[in-house]
Amino acid sequence: MNATDVENLTILARKVLPNAYAPYSNFPVSAVVVGESGRAYVGVNVENAAYPLARCAEQMAVGAMVAAGERRIRKVLVFSTSREPATPCGACRQILAEFGSDETPVVCVNDEGKTLRFTLGELLPAAFRLKPSP
Ligand code: THU
Repeated sequence: MNATDVENLTILARKVLPNAYAPYSNFPVSAVVVGESGRAYVGVNVENAAYPLARCAEQMAVGAMVAAGERRIRKVLVFSTSREPATPCGACRQILAEFGSDETPVVCVNDEGKTLRFTLGELLPAAFRLKPSP
């Protein structure tokens, strides 16, 4: 992902971060997934009084992309205000792998601009797939 992409997706992620619903963890996260069309889909974490029902920002962004009719993820950006940029949890890695490939870039950024760059293959080697991804 080039620097302009990171900059533009960070602007989107920063804009929606205040919508994160994280009253239990106080750890707001936002995510942007870009589909094959080039459209960007945002998500924020949505927690619940029944704690295990919390949904991560990445999952919500993937849901928005799929609801819009897209099936392939081209790039992912995760935004948080933590000292170390938040990286996708194990469950999110699997969910991203359903629609991405080993080469899909995943960039994690915090509000100080600290940036961690990965590919999905690095984050989830040997992802479980029922069939090869298209
Ligand atoms: N969380 C995300 O939304 N994405 C991540 O990449 C890491 C963790 C959320 C889940 C929970 O609402 C809060 O952050 C604290 O774990």
